[in-house]
Amino acid sequence: MNLKHLALGVAAALAATGAAAQPDEIRPGALWHDTSGHVINAHGGGVLFDRGVYWWYGEHKVYGRAGNKAHVGVHVYSSADLVNWDDRGIALAVSEDPQSDIADGCIIERPKVIFCPKTGRYVMFFHLELKGQGYKAARAGIAVAERPEGPFAFQRSLRPNGAMSRDMTLFVDDDGKAYHIFASEENRTTHIDELTDDFLDYTGRSVRMAVDESTEAQAVCKRGGWYFLIGSGCTGWRPNTARLYRAKSLQGPWERLGNPCRGTRPETGLGPDLTWGAQSTFLLPVAGRPGEVIALFDIWNPANHEESRYVWLPVMFEADRLWIDWKTAWRPQVR
Ligand code: GAL
Repeated sequence: MNLKHLALGVAAALAATGAAAQPDEIRPGALWHDTSGHVINAHGGGVLFDRGVYWWYGEHKVYGRAGNKAHVGVHVYSSADLVNWDDRGIALAVSEDPQSDIADGCIIERPKVIFCPKTGRYVMFFHLELKGQGYKAARAGIAVAERPEGPFAFQRSLRPNGAMSRDMTLFVDDDGKAYHIFASEENRTTHIDELTDDFLDYTGRSVRMAVDESTEAQAVCKRGGWYFLIGSGCTGWRPNTARLYRAKSLQGPWERLGNPCRGTRPETGLGPDLTWGAQSTFLLPVAGRPGEVIALFDIWNPANHEESRYVWLPVMFEADRLWIDWKTAWRPQVR
């Protein structure tokens, strides 16, 4: 074998494992490999910062249309720099017991994890649909763990304060109070429900916002005295135009500001009217860098979610609103 062949062989081997693609920056919409060379499998996700480490939790999708159901569970990855992610395995596994709420074949979407200082435990909420019922059940699932990587133990599922619950996020405010924010009332209206101080139940305080505006894919952050909520319209897996809301209090009143996204993705020609082909999932405050937030989106491929991609972009704050501009590649500052 001459040198050229050797080089080609090495390149092919690297491409096969994906190691060649080990990134030093975030490339929105491109395949994103973990540090062992596998494509990251954590869709509809959220990120927790815990003692110097970022933990990315998301839906583990299997190949083909079967990926529209949960057959594995919630996958978790860890990173110090938000670019290189180590595979930490399955944080919450579906159950082999067909009677379980999280039986293999149920639907688990949009998992989010927060740390509860009162109990010292990690609390996961997710959108749960019971096996064989399509999207009718509209429930929230709750699981807890002693460590961020899990294993998370499923606790129960419920309809928060009796209301339907589908797309969702969690938000912990500066005063330590936690909120479950979700699409309710057949996805027409968003509810913001306060959690008890163990983060495992509801206090009964519930606010309706974006009433009858059919907002989903909710993601929330706070900056400069404003609460911001980004969401999408309701067109299933198909992309639509994002919308931004703001309020001085989580209790409202909430004001709708329009589309925060700008710019066009050159590879596809998709612009802000279709959120570059993506849908929001989370707003991540960068630890130790006050006011810096990263917006997380998914590009869905329901025919094969293993091909679904991630779009992570920096949020630009301007006076009392925010913008998210398309970037082909960028590097987050973490320290
Ligand atoms: C989307 C939602 C996804 C998933 C999908 C199913 O609107 O954001 O999380 O539920 O519908 O069609």
